[in-house]
Amino acid sequence: MGHFPTVDEYIRFKWQIGTSKSSLEVVAWTMKQIRHHMDHHDSNNVRDFLSRFIQAREKYPEVVDEGRLADYTITNVIAGSDTTAIALREIIYQISTHPVTYNRLMAEIKSVLQKRTPDQLDKHITWTEGRDMVYLQACIKESLRYHPAICQILPRLVPEGGVELCDQFLPAGTVVGCNAFTIHRDRGVFGEDAEIWRPERWLDPDVERVRRMDNLHFAFGGGTRGCIGRNIAMLEVTKFVPEFFRTFDLHLVDPRQYRDHPVWIAPQSGLDAKLSMRDSTSGVGQFSRDRE
Ligand code: HEM
Repeated sequence: MGHFPTVDEYIRFKWQIGTSKSSLEVVAWTMKQIRHHMDHHDSNNVRDFLSRFIQAREKYPEVVDEGRLADYTITNVIAGSDTTAIALREIIYQISTHPVTYNRLMAEIKSVLQKRTPDQLDKHITWTEGRDMVYLQACIKESLRYHPAICQILPRLVPEGGVELCDQFLPAGTVVGCNAFTIHRDRGVFGEDAEIWRPERWLDPDVERVRRMDNLHFAFGGGTRGCIGRNIAMLEVTKFVPEFFRTFDLHLVDPRQYRDHPVWIAPQSGLDAKLSMRDSTSGVGQFSRDRE
């Protein structure tokens, strides 16, 4: 393999992310992963993103040069880390501060585990189990609706020929965009209580209404430039959340400390909590301290 850019070269020539210490650390870590993958992995047998980028580098060297390989990988790391962390923080905060939801979710986890054979009890919650937990999925969707990780307008260019939008003609090349926070507060779609966190809205028997909400769920953007990591993110969240609540009993130090800090992403602070392990001798954890 030819000369692979150093972190400094990469930042100078390829990537305008500034020189903040945290950005540099992410870039340095990612470059290390690329090197490690190139040196130690047989990319033909591994089907992760990085191995595929390396395969593309080998197959199309005139298109995917070293800088582009670094771009692809760093974009994925940056696009996939804070976003998923923000989503998880919101889900955990909302579930922990809504006792009725918490008890209903714990009952759902318990019922999933009760379907297992004794020798499977201490295995982690699987993707299939989590995907089929309708209440868990409603909590995830509602959290992504209520607090999308990306709060900037997602820009798009009006294509050739222009477009008629809300009785207004927009010529080709006009930059238009939508913001998930705004769309997700639309009462005409999400209901009069769009301002509150209520997972039950996703379990409405009116399937047409739910389909309409689904279609306008914009946390992962949409169209050809929609989030390419959406399925991975859903996999992570779906497996992590029930396993987390099954394993730990969580006490927030002070729920009133929780704050949003929207910039272009919308991180939160104040989710300080005490965690204690549940007694897992029964394999389903002890759900003795149900909340009122
Ligand atoms: C809950 C977690 C996540 C959320 C909420 C999220 C959200 C988004 C959003 C809103 C966009 C812009 C889409 C648009 O303009 O229509 C985006 C783009 C992107 N996301 Fe995610 N994302 C998440 C996780 C991930 C993960 C885990 C990865 C990678 C493994 C990833 C990789 C990307 C990439 C590469 C883009 C740029 C796509 C392009 O411009 O073509 N994301 N994401």
